[in-house]
Amino acid sequence: MRQPAQPEPGASPSIWSRLSTITDYFAWPLRTSHYLELVNPLWTTHKMQARVVKVWDETKDARTLTLRPGLNWRGHRAGQHVRVGIPANGKHYTRTYTISSPPEREDDCFTITVKAIDKGTISHHIVRNIKVGDYLPIGLPQGDFYLPDAQPIQPLFITAGSGITPAFSMINSLIAQGRLPDTCHIHYAPHEFDVVLGKELKAMDRYNDRYHLNLIYSREGDDPSGNRFSKAQLDALCPDWKDRDVYACGPPSLLEAIEQCMEEAGCSRQLHVERFRAPFTEIPDDAVGGRVRFAQSDVEADGDSDTPLLKVAEEAGMNPPHGCRMGICHTCNTTLVSGCVRDLRTGEVLNEAGSIVQTCICAAAGDCELDL
Ligand code: FES
Repeated sequence: MRQPAQPEPGASPSIWSRLSTITDYFAWPLRTSHYLELVNPLWTTHKMQARVVKVWDETKDARTLTLRPGLNWRGHRAGQHVRVGIPANGKHYTRTYTISSPPEREDDCFTITVKAIDKGTISHHIVRNIKVGDYLPIGLPQGDFYLPDAQPIQPLFITAGSGITPAFSMINSLIAQGRLPDTCHIHYAPHEFDVVLGKELKAMDRYNDRYHLNLIYSREGDDPSGNRFSKAQLDALCPDWKDRDVYACGPPSLLEAIEQCMEEAGCSRQLHVERFRAPFTEIPDDAVGGRVRFAQSDVEADGDSDTPLLKVAEEAGMNPPHGCRMGICHTCNTTLVSGCVRDLRTGEVLNEAGSIVQTCICAAAGDCELDL
């Protein structure tokens, strides 16, 4: 069994990196890596890419891509995510996806499982157009939603929709290491045919005595509202939930309900949550947007009080730098030249010229100008 690769701080340079230091003299003004890219894009070290080696349709609107990363990839921890560059419509976009495969895969590849979301141009593009043989820029794995190294824990996974992906990676990792503890998993999907990775989940349930899967179809039955997450449902499906470490990933409404349930039971410290979107606070009823000027691009557009400036820029035809789109990576940072913006997570208004603005989680709070 392959163990997850761990970064080795202070490790001595590889033979390859020593050799390329010498050959770089002869490759100037480029680097050896630029020439190697012409032979095999996965041999480059000046940027990281992955080759799509398999595409697999999970459901009618979800697809798993198997990616073979280049030389400078390092292994991930089960539950982490990765940034993926997507060329579409002549532009370059970046999105962040959870790695759905466990680190113990034997073939050095990893998978991402993408569900086409409403109005999600890029997710639709991935599900419909990405094909075997495409090369995609990738980042290094990131994120702190993963299981502790120390056992024992008794996990309870509560997931919905594509929130299955980190849990799927974690559970498979524990199975591959032969140390799966007693694990309860509650997963929500609208219908049986919508369950992303459904066949694999059922097989895991069938072949692992310690894994207990509960699939809930939230739009089926006479009274589908009864299928939503509740404490009564949790008591019925996992009576010892208060003794477990809870790992939750899904839409904001589900995560809020779980957080409230855990808080009321005094169990908040056992809850670990992974979000696909930043939690936005309620903004005042009288909040207004304004005219947004992107100074460097010489573009102007109207931005309302709750639309992130990154989206305003993209809808105006720009392609500003971005990564996670949820306030974590700071790739979207720019400077406020004048006017007011609001941080949608905290409600705080920034109006000091020179302030750093994260365009993915800030909206116009009146007219404003950004150095973008
Ligand atoms: S895109 Fe990551 S912080 Fe804005």
